[in-house]
Amino acid sequence: KDRGELRIHESLDELRTDLADYIAEISDASVKERGVFTIALSGGSLIGLMGKLCEAPYKKTVDWDKWHIFWADERVVAKSHADSNYKLAKDGLLSKVPIVPNHIHSINDSASAEKAAKDYEFVIRQLVRTRVISVSEINDCPKFDLIILGMGPDGHVASLFPNHSALNENDEWVTFITDSPKPPPERITFTMPVINSASNVAVVVTGIGKSEAVHLGIDNLLQNLKMLSFLNPSGCGGSVAIYLVLFC
Ligand code: 6PG
Repeated sequence: KDRGELRIHESLDELRTDLADYIAEISDASVKERGVFTIALSGGSLIGLMGKLCEAPYKKTVDWDKWHIFWADERVVAKSHADSNYKLAKDGLLSKVPIVPNHIHSINDSASAEKAAKDYEFVIRQLVRTRVISVSEINDCPKFDLIILGMGPDGHVASLFPNHSALNENDEWVTFITDSPKPPPERITFTMPVINSASNVAVVVTGIGKSEAVHLGIDNLLQNLKMLSFLNPSGCGGSVAIYLVLFC
């Protein structure tokens, strides 16, 4: 299987079409193979970039009722709050396509960050047990069909920030932080082992503000550092696509 594919686009429109094709292809393959498609989303500009999925032909051709939606990271705020990644996805994508409501696995938004992380891991464990989410043969981690991430200008993905101790969490599947350098401070996030175990990971990066972090990320990749170690082709996961649009 190909890993570490870099797709560079000259315009956001090109990226949007390619991203919709990429997601639709993985969805088709997963539904064919297992009857479901498990996708973990993040926040930021990503949902807007996935917008073509709500249009023809995808709106009709994608097996929406087979989709199970998760969040690779979430801010611990009410689901109705403007900062909620759930709200962003709901308003921008999920309300426009026929997803089964109880296939939308959002976090417990009325608990502390610690409890919300524990509860979310419990939800994932139940779905691993019932084989909605498949499991990695290597480390028993959940194996999502696709984890789709943005990247901050500081190089963070999900809510794993550079030099933060959450990067070293290897036992839990979902962890929490209360000191996010980017507000809001309380968040839950998938851990590195879970990101590493996905069948496919896409990191969607746009804007000149990201260029330094992209270069660092590619250096880290070459040096096999931890920060973006899921880009390491010898890792235990599946394929990785990085979408890149830099404006010069
Ligand atoms: C958050 C955001 C964040 C975002 C990146 C990239 O929770 O603070 O979700 O992690 O994904 O900062 O954001 P952009 O794609 O909007 O630059």
